[in-house]
Amino acid sequence: MNVVKPLSNQAYEAQWMPFTANREFKASPRLVQRSEGVRLWNQNGEPLIDGSSGLFNVAAGHGRKEIAEAVYRQMLENDYTPPFQMGHPGAFALADKVAELLPEPMNHVFFVNSGSEAIDTALKMVMAYHRARGESQRLRFVSRERAYHGVNMGGTSLAGMVRNRETFPVVMPNVVMLRHTWDEAQAFTRGQPETGAELADDLQRFCEAYGAGTIAAVFVEPIAGSTGVLVPPKGYLERLRAICDRHGILLVFDEVITGFGRTGKAFAAQTFGVTPDIITMAKAITNGAIPMGAVAARDEIYETITGAAPENAIEFFHGYTYSGHPAACAAGLATLEIYEREGLFEKAAELSPYFLDAIWSLKDLDVVRDLRGHGLIAGVEVHPEPGKPGLRGNELQKRLFWNGCHVKWTGDTAIVAPSFVATRADVDEIVGCIRKTIESV
Ligand SMILES: Cc1ncc(COP(=O)(O)O)c(C=O)c1O
Repeated sequence: MNVVKPLSNQAYEAQWMPFTANREFKASPRLVQRSEGVRLWNQNGEPLIDGSSGLFNVAAGHGRKEIAEAVYRQMLENDYTPPFQMGHPGAFALADKVAELLPEPMNHVFFVNSGSEAIDTALKMVMAYHRARGESQRLRFVSRERAYHGVNMGGTSLAGMVRNRETFPVVMPNVVMLRHTWDEAQAFTRGQPETGAELADDLQRFCEAYGAGTIAAVFVEPIAGSTGVLVPPKGYLERLRAICDRHGILLVFDEVITGFGRTGKAFAAQTFGVTPDIITMAKAITNGAIPMGAVAARDEIYETITGAAPENAIEFFHGYTYSGHPAACAAGLATLEIYEREGLFEKAAELSPYFLDAIWSLKDLDVVRDLRGHGLIAGVEVHPEPGKPGLRGNELQKRLFWNGCHVKWTGDTAIVAPSFVATRADVDEIVGCIRKTIESV
């Protein structure tokens, strides 16, 4: 294969990189030049195994020709259609397919371009729903400590990860936080912790402290992913659902990571047997090939909002120039077809016990503080360097790259999430590389 010559450092300056230590990176860049299956190739032509399937979005593996060809055909046939007061067949077809995968009664899908847009869209849907029902006094939103709901202003307002919000204090008012569900006493629990369901009662306390009729919605990730994989305690999501039902509060599951098979079923809502009112999704919808996200709503939410507007009037004053872009829809349709044809959600479920066994084999390493996981996602948390949280994780992420493995770290936790086409040998390679790299620090 061709080896790409590293650019001069000057050439890296123009791009202000997201969520990256720009100065450190530009002094010693890590570039990916090619990707295929579960492999990436760096700027020196050396292979890496992809231990996080990109950012947990490349569920069917890299370089899927079916997706590339579908996008190419679509671009030649119709490259763009305005999504307002017009449509194109692909967006309707993809909405139907997503609705087939969703739990009942969720059959309405609004397209956006990212997880962050999905969250801000969901916030507006909640507001529009309560307004349509004459309950505009429901102004308070409930989120959770350690939550990651993207980076737009709505999502930043719901952010429970301190670094994502402390620089940006001008956020939506009236957001209150449930406690997170991590408990040191539960360290090394595989799957759902036995205790902790009572943490959902924070919501009941908010109802008593603020008045349940002032609360609009609760946003939670069923498995909190970006903070380092916090699996919900048994009974926790059920308890949130029951409290929401008692008080007319909407329950929103942010399934941007868990959506499309990560827990072995299409959505974590199905895996955990709890149906929310709204689901946000993004990552695996196009297998990472084209930016896209979506928000699914219960039928009653769609019908209430549309029914409240005068006939012939726009019902929901919201949307993006690129909502349901034809190329993204073509990629989405091709992706969902691959998931179905290759039984990839079932494959994820089948591989999960082997994957979790492999992750738990790291328990003997002294530096490992906790292991958590469910389905094909696991957190490997290491003890922080004294007084320097995140430093060890950053160092390990860099070393892993040069040792031949991509794993996304958040602070001192690795988020390991292979693609669903990974084999047992691939899992061994990923975990072997993590062990070797941890042992080297
Ligand atoms: C749960 C969750 N919500 C929202 C987002 C934001 O998605 P995006 O980066 O596509 O805006 C993410 C991204 O990691 C996420 O994990």
